[in-house]
Amino acid sequence: MPHPAPRERVVETHDPAATRDLAARLARAARPGDLLCLVGDLGAGKTQFAKGFAAGLGVDGVVSSPTFVLMAEYAGRIPMFHLDLYRLADAADALAGGLLDERQLEGVVLVEWAERLGDALPAGRLDVRIDGTGDEDRTITLRAGSDAYTRYLAAAA
Ligand SMILES: Nc1ncnc2c1ncn2[C@@H]1O[C@H](COP(=O)(O)OP(=O)(O)OP(=O)(O)O)[C@@H](O)[C@H]1O
Ligand SMILES: [Mg+2]
Repeated sequence: MPHPAPRERVVETHDPAATRDLAARLARAARPGDLLCLVGDLGAGKTQFAKGFAAGLGVDGVVSSPTFVLMAEYAGRIPMFHLDLYRLADAADALAGGLLDERQLEGVVLVEWAERLGDALPAGRLDVRIDGTGDEDRTITLRAGSDAYTRYLAAAA
């Protein structure tokens, strides 16, 4: 029997550029319909990760935090949808706000504060958990929710 692909990979980054570089490498693995959940405290680096991911998709222009617009769309190799659910109370709020829609299946979706969606999150996703804030190094744990997402772990190398 072949060994199953590992579902988790941990990467340390020493500065924001290293977090962006990691995300840019992961972006090479992105396919339409993918979902990446970015989890971590305020200032952990979720938006830095999103910026690097966008760069990896070939998006030109500035990716900023979509906190006030909730969702931003960028044109890259495939579309990227960047959501920030910080201001949402729960999943019902997100659904009511029309934040999750069919069009997103044409691109890759990155969600900051994805835990707000709770049980509404599908199992098929990549969790990106960023531990550390301020000047600390970041410990970034990539967890594939299904086998299909293990290709991101390979791309992190
Ligand atoms: N290794 C690192 N990786 C990422 N960011 C880092 C790192 N070291 C320091 N930083 C700094 O931490 C901050 C991360 O900010 P960022 O906006 O990405 O956080 P966030 O998780 O999106 O926060 P919020 O929950 O407020 O949206 C930036 O100021 C960045 O320069
Ligand atoms: Mg942010």
